[in-house]
Amino acid sequence: MSSIIATTAIRGRFLDIKNTVAQAREIHDQVRYIEDGLLIIKNGIIQWFGSWQEGQQQLPEGLHVTHYPEQLIIPGMIDTHIHFPQTEMVGAYGEQLLEWLNTYTFPTEIQFQDPAYSQKMAQFFIQELLKNGTTTALVFCTVHPASVEALFEAATAQNMRLIAGKVLMDRHAPEALTDTAESAYSDSKALIEKWHGKGRNLYAITPRFAPTSTPEQLEKAGQLKAEYPDVYVHTHLSENKNEIAWVKELFPEREGYLDVYHHYGLTGAKSVFAHCVHLEEGEWDCMHQTDSAIAFCPTSNLFLGSGLFPLKKAWDKGVKVGLGTDIGAGTSFNQLQTLNEAYKVQQLQGEKLSAFESLYHATLGGAKALSLDDRLGNFNVGKEADFVVLDLNATALQQLRQSRAKNIEDTFFALTMLGDDRNIAATYVYGQAVYVKAQ
Ligand code: GUN
Ligand code: ZN
Repeated sequence: MSSIIATTAIRGRFLDIKNTVAQAREIHDQVRYIEDGLLIIKNGIIQWFGSWQEGQQQLPEGLHVTHYPEQLIIPGMIDTHIHFPQTEMVGAYGEQLLEWLNTYTFPTEIQFQDPAYSQKMAQFFIQELLKNGTTTALVFCTVHPASVEALFEAATAQNMRLIAGKVLMDRHAPEALTDTAESAYSDSKALIEKWHGKGRNLYAITPRFAPTSTPEQLEKAGQLKAEYPDVYVHTHLSENKNEIAWVKELFPEREGYLDVYHHYGLTGAKSVFAHCVHLEEGEWDCMHQTDSAIAFCPTSNLFLGSGLFPLKKAWDKGVKVGLGTDIGAGTSFNQLQTLNEAYKVQQLQGEKLSAFESLYHATLGGAKALSLDDRLGNFNVGKEADFVVLDLNATALQQLRQSRAKNIEDTFFALTMLGDDRNIAATYVYGQAVYVKAQ
């Protein structure tokens, strides 16, 4: 491929956050809004970014420039916690976590023992992510290795940066959904060898949660992490009060829920814990000291009645937070809708989630939570060119509201309150348009 063919140029209105921050109040100073900007991409990587005025002379002669004069372009959104096998069961009525798992989730996940079924659902899932402007996700598969193969194959076909793993679960689940400590170790090891770092794929060791793993299995998970320190750990933590009480019964020798994971070597900079709604003080300290990250999943926490995530506490404690949809306990694939609920979760606690903080969590902050902020999350030169073109006026009501917007902050806030997949005009992965909304 000649360099001209591999080079792409996009002109439009760009909004991103330049640097990661330690405090929410610092985000405002890192906002970069370029009303008439230019992005030049070579072989999937951002080569130049700035104003159209300055950038024109950087353009290789004869290169076509794709122009989005009306839309808003932001970095690809990042979902730090989602279950691909639960796509079909979104909106399952009436239960809280433990009953919801037994009634709806486990029967649904059993179907993924069939590789053909896994492939079909993986393709649907990847399309749904792209259609919602999500370009990177940290994903739970099922206990079946074939579900992981199917997902990585579908992501590879789109050249997406995706992190996923096989669920480890050797107790308190139906027979067809359980592995053993030994098979969990050997199956995960084979998947790591095959997929971690292959193309843009990355692997996560994925114990479902402490109640469904024996101490022997958690020991094996820790052994795997010690052998492959570069892979991720992805699990659930402190989501629901009955769940927490159950963990304390099952592991009386441990100080608390997080200590179960910490004891087995599963905390760390590449560990992501979904929910953390009810952490105790010492657990916040452990999250900070180990540089572990939280996936905040507002639609799920509200849908399952789990509780209100204390986002301010996470900032105060210096703990990294990304945004998660947690499909299928969460009720939308869309990060704009997820931010809508995140805002309300903070309101119910007397806190304000600003529009720019929302943008941060959905992009650069999510990248930081996944230790990928050196590659993803904004338009800095050298980063991977994943981005979303947003239509601000997808409905008559949005058009009316946006015509009254005071500034870019208000524009983005209104988008998070009123927006959904109808606002995703196009999604680009590694410099290529992989989704374009039908007119
Ligand atoms: N805890 C253990 N498994 C699950 C799951 O599938 N979804 C959610 N939300 N919490 C869990
Ligand atoms: Zn989950």
